[in-house]
Amino acid sequence: MKKNIILIGFMGSGKTVIAKELSLRLKYHYLDIDHVIEQKFKCTISDIFKTKGESFFREAETQELSELKSKSKNIISTGGGIILKPENRQLLKRIGFIVWLKASPEVIYQRLKHNKTRPLLEADDKLTEIQNLLSARIPFYQSLADLEIDTTDKTISEIVNLIAGCI
Ligand code: S3P
Repeated sequence: MKKNIILIGFMGSGKTVIAKELSLRLKYHYLDIDHVIEQKFKCTISDIFKTKGESFFREAETQELSELKSKSKNIISTGGGIILKPENRQLLKRIGFIVWLKASPEVIYQRLKHNKTRPLLEADDKLTEIQNLLSARIPFYQSLADLEIDTTDKTISEIVNLIAGCI
C-alpha cells in the first residue's frame, strides 16, 4: 500500500469534501494544500493570485508537495492546477496513490457558477473557460491517476467506498 492518498481533479470535482470523509473513514490525516498555502501566506488564494501572480502560487504548491515526500497516512486534497508543472507531477507520483475525481464541464459549471473563490474562473463565459482549462488538463490527470472516478451521479459515501476498497 502506498503511504498517502492524493485526490486530483478539476475545481468543483469534490476533492475537499471527499478527502475529509475519507480521512475520517481511514483514520488518516486530512490535508488540503490550498488551505496550507493560505495559512502560510495569511492570504486567500484569490489574493495570492492578485498580488503575487499565478507562478508564485504554483511555486508554493511545489514547496508544499516537497514537504510531503517523507510523510505517510495523509489524505491530500490538491488544487486543480497542481498537475501543470512537470516537477509537481513527479512529486505526486512519489507521494502516494493518486485518485482522479472526474466531472463533466457542464456539471462543474453548475457546481461553480456562483462561486467567487476561483481566480481562474472569473471570465464572463465561465463554461467556455472551464471547457478550455479542462481539455488542456485531462491528459495530465489521466497520466497520473491510479484510480479514476466519475463523480457525476455518485454520492459522497459511494465515492469514499470506491477509494477505500482500492487501498
Ligand atoms: C486552481 C484550483 C483551485 C486553487 C486555485 C487554482 C486551478 O483549487 O488551487 O484557485 O488552477 O485549477 P480547487 O481545485 O480546490 O478549486
